[in-house]
Amino acid sequence: MPALIVIGAQWGDEGKGKATDQLGTDVDYVVKFNGGNNAGHTIVVDGEKFALHLIPAGALTDTCTPVIGGGVVVDLDVLFQEVEELEARGIDMSKLRVASTAHIIPSYNRTLDKVTERFLGNRKIGTTGRGIGPTYADKMNRIGLRIQDLFDAPILRQKVEAALDQKNNLLVKVFNSRAADADIVTAELLKYADRIKPLVANVPNLLNDALDRGETVVFEGGQATMLDVDHGTYPFVTSSSATAGGACTGSGVGPTRIDRVVGVSKAYITRVGEGPFPTELFDESGDWLRERGGEFGVTTGRPRRCGWYDAVIARYATRVNSLTDLVLTKLDVLSTLDQIPVCVAYEIDGVRHDEMPADQTSFHHAKPIYEYFPGWQEDITAVRSFEDLPQNAQDYVHAIEKLSGVRVSSIGVGPGREQTIVRHPLV
Ligand code: GDP
Ligand code: IMO
Ligand code: MG
Repeated sequence: MPALIVIGAQWGDEGKGKATDQLGTDVDYVVKFNGGNNAGHTIVVDGEKFALHLIPAGALTDTCTPVIGGGVVVDLDVLFQEVEELEARGIDMSKLRVASTAHIIPSYNRTLDKVTERFLGNRKIGTTGRGIGPTYADKMNRIGLRIQDLFDAPILRQKVEAALDQKNNLLVKVFNSRAADADIVTAELLKYADRIKPLVANVPNLLNDALDRGETVVFEGGQATMLDVDHGTYPFVTSSSATAGGACTGSGVGPTRIDRVVGVSKAYITRVGEGPFPTELFDESGDWLRERGGEFGVTTGRPRRCGWYDAVIARYATRVNSLTDLVLTKLDVLSTLDQIPVCVAYEIDGVRHDEMPADQTSFHHAKPIYEYFPGWQEDITAVRSFEDLPQNAQDYVHAIEKLSGVRVSSIGVGPGREQTIVRHPLV
């Protein structure tokens, strides 16, 4: 199976990084196709913890080439900081490739992200403050800066100036902030030009050639289905295409080349930032999940909002991504519960809905209808085959599979690379 998309099927932090890393040496290329350093992936290899933001998880496997696709927005400071940190820990980063068409996050967009959030007050999105939204807005508005602009200083200067003609008005007149200086911004960016030049590639050619040779390419999504700008809980979303379709536009490989689409879900669900969340727990079981699951953000350190598995969202994710497989993570976190609630449908203004409502107002009013599954007491972190799981854990997985409409191909029983039960190999 040479071309495989891995995406988040919930609200992010499902364990996509671990799921990609776990595929290991069977993968030749891992390409990040959306988002930027709003993402945070924790990967544990032989007890050693790595936190990645911009660099795709494949980087931790030395035979794999990590690629940053054109759909990504790149903060150059963060990129090189991450490269240096990984190199200092013995990871070879010489193979990293970056698309010439990827957009750059300039410092004024980090400022705009933060002041916009402050301006919104209690209507804020709860962004990561990394400049993601303003940079994608510039891209669509055709005033963005691209990696290739770093190699033509006069053009870069002109583009920065054109952007600041608009942005400085916003900064000064609307947000009462300081104007950005075009010379300073240009110089900040140009200092990376020589360093990034050897990494820059025609990513569509690179990946299509690899597929022609029969090599394996994994498209690693940042964020998730419910944070997707089109399919998520708009406006409480990120600004990129985090669903499977984004893998094609964000990398330059067409849909007919894709063999598998893998959704990653926790055995429960979490969310960071604002926005509706039908199964959110406000009682001690929410605190219990947060503590047991270590549910604190890798990027911002914020506590994650926690809730029970939402099968309505799972079915929706199966459809909008055309999932072929589900990776179910963090099953170990649920051990010791007497019973495990799963949301099978919503009640919205007195009416049962088995599928995602078409409008956001209804979703805000959705109340979960639960089915309860018997739990298990055993520690399952050392289990490596499905048959060795307690019967109730096997039954829980079967129920998730049935309710989500997609087979569960792999199960996470701990953060370590090896703490995985593979039922159907993905590559
Ligand atoms: P990502 O953004 O989707 O890559 O996910 P994050 O890395 O932000 O969050 C997932 C967290 O769960 C990380 O701390 C992982 O180390 C951890 N994790 C992943 N899979 C498992 C699992 O099966 N069990 C447990 N206990 N932790 C896991
Ligand atoms: P990974 O890849 C969870 C959320 C933010 C906020 C909203 C918009 O680790 O799963 P943004 O800064 O993107 O404009 O913020 O999206 N968000 C994430 N939540 N995991 C992520 O990434 C996220 N990236 C953004 O909390 O609600
Ligand atoms: Mg994360």
